[in-house]
Amino acid sequence: MAIIIGIESSCDDTSAAIIKDGVLLSNIIANQSVHEFYGGVIPELASREHQQNIIPVVSMAINSAKIDKSQISAVAFTRGPGLMGSLLVGVSFAKGFAQSLNIPMIEINHLQGHILAHFIAEKDKNISHPKFPFLCLLVSGGHTQLIVVKDYMDFEIIGQTIDDAAGEAFDKCAKVMGLPYPGGPVIDKLASEGNARAFEFARPIVGGLNYSFSGLKTSFLYFLRDRIAENPNFIEENKVDLCASLQHTIIQILLKNLIKAAKQTGINEIAVSGGVSANSGLRNAIADEGKRCGWNVYLPQLKFTTDNAAMIAITGYFKYLKNQTCGYDVVPITRMI
Ligand code: KG4
Ligand code: ZN
Repeated sequence: MAIIIGIESSCDDTSAAIIKDGVLLSNIIANQSVHEFYGGVIPELASREHQQNIIPVVSMAINSAKIDKSQISAVAFTRGPGLMGSLLVGVSFAKGFAQSLNIPMIEINHLQGHILAHFIAEKDKNISHPKFPFLCLLVSGGHTQLIVVKDYMDFEIIGQTIDDAAGEAFDKCAKVMGLPYPGGPVIDKLASEGNARAFEFARPIVGGLNYSFSGLKTSFLYFLRDRIAENPNFIEENKVDLCASLQHTIIQILLKNLIKAAKQTGINEIAVSGGVSANSGLRNAIADEGKRCGWNVYLPQLKFTTDNAAMIAITGYFKYLKNQTCGYDVVPITRMI
């Protein structure tokens, strides 16, 4: 029997989860609303919030899993990528916790966690998992990548953004419209009432399977600037159409290379992961494309799309089975591929 505790603190969510033999027992997440006021994550505030949240979050995860901490086999924690001050809280906590119980630590790459979130099993739920090799579109606030997943531990990045991530495009454009942070979910909601073909924004020209979102953000900004010069109420009067058109553009950009990658690799097992995979428009578009192209599409449950420790614990479980533990002297890394 293996009981793994997962600890996630890479950005602005403090989370702890317990997984027993691959089955999720608890997954507690404390969000940080403090950043809303600033329109983006303030690293110093994020680490202070993690400090306050980490112990209650871990206690809740253990209690709601109905286990005793002495039963835990190993501590899996996010080593990176992420914000240094945020990572340090989780990593330092994991070190103290593991040493006090005299159990091993397992370092986790946050991005691998997002991908393996597809393998989280839950009691009385029958969810089908992607079969190896599968193609994963990983779209979050920090990353946009196309990855061939050959096995739990074997990944090949075949395309990625050369500048902003898709989530950043959502968040930055939302900020320009005066919408709260994080902008992705807000745009998603407003877009459902708007016309996706109302406005046209720049689509990037990038080689191969790579992505670029900085041009879209600039095109959106200049477009609004020109329209506001004619009509100061332009944003307010066109908010839902702006959101729908922007979301449509981001989805089309993401889909284009996904389709290309599926053709190039010949893989028809298609998964999507990361915070932006919560987007209803993207989920529908990939499901529709899947029907058209004969793909088997895997969309994560919404609770496993944005940052959570269940994905860290499941990755830890697979690494634990392979004895892939690390020393107590491990340090966080802000950049990892
Ligand atoms: O995976 P995540 O929680 O954190 C990172 O690892 O970056 O992703 C956060 C990102 C944010 O940019 C947020 O705006 C975006 O995911 N996001 C969404 C939606 N929900 C979260 N973007 C579009 N539509 C959504 N429904
Ligand atoms: Zn993430």
